[in-house]
Amino acid sequence: MLVCQCRGVTDRQIRRLVRDGAHSTREIVRATGVGRDCGGCRSNVKKVVELAIEQVAQREFQTTVIHSHSQPDPDPDTDQRRYGHDLR
Ligand code: FES
Repeated sequence: MLVCQCRGVTDRQIRRLVRDGAHSTREIVRATGVGRDCGGCRSNVKKVVELAIEQVAQREFQTTVIHSHSQPDPDPDTDQRRYGHDLR
């Protein structure tokens, strides 16, 4: 979907920039120039950026949770102390 007609910037481009590390609307504006011509897209740009930031944060949180539950305890003695027996 075209978000900024003046600059020809799409929501997909904005989401990609956020995935690549942009953390604010200001950074998106700096990278793409959205909102600098007629300004008619600014509220939509802000919404797309906020949604993209939220989605990236949720994905990072889910990845962290999955990894924290999938990593075996490197010290088997810890399992023995914690549970009273070796879980292996
Ligand atoms: S539509 Fe984005 S600056 Fe005009």
